[in-house]
This record gives sequence, C-alpha cells and structure tokens, in this order.
Amino acid sequence: MPTNNLDPEDEVICLCSGTTQSDIARWFAQGLDMDAISRKTGAVSGCAGCEWDVSEMLRILAEQKAAADNV
Ligand code: FES
Repeated sequence: MPTNNLDPEDEVICLCSGTTQSDIARWFAQGLDMDAISRKTGAVSGCAGCEWDVSEMLRILAEQKAAADNV
C-alpha cells in the first residue's frame, strides 16, 4: 500500500485491515496478546499474510518490555 507517511510507527502492517504498527504497539501495551489484537484490529484475520510480521513485531516488543522490566 503506497503511503506518503514517513513515520514508521504508522506503517500499515496488515493490508487487509489497515492495522498499523502503532495500533499493534498500543494494544500490546494494554496487555493484549496476538489473538486479542487480531480480534480488536482484524489483523491476521483476513489473508493472514501479515501473520509473520505481526508475530515478529510482538516478539520484539516483548523482548523490549522484558529488558525494560529488568533495568
Ligand atoms: S494482510 Fe493482514 S490479514 Fe491480510
């Protein structure tokens, strides 16, 4: 999906639902897991082509949270 938005936080990660990376990060921060985020946003519930990207983003966010919690 072409975009003129240069903010990577607002990059669409799920083309089917229009869910952005910031949407995923916001729901992760609220404590939602992949299934709950999928139900809230519609990500991974269409063609599922974004599943790896969403999963990888959640893995990275979880690592960052664990590192921050251990400081
Ligand atoms: S790209 Fe996310 S469900 Fe299709």
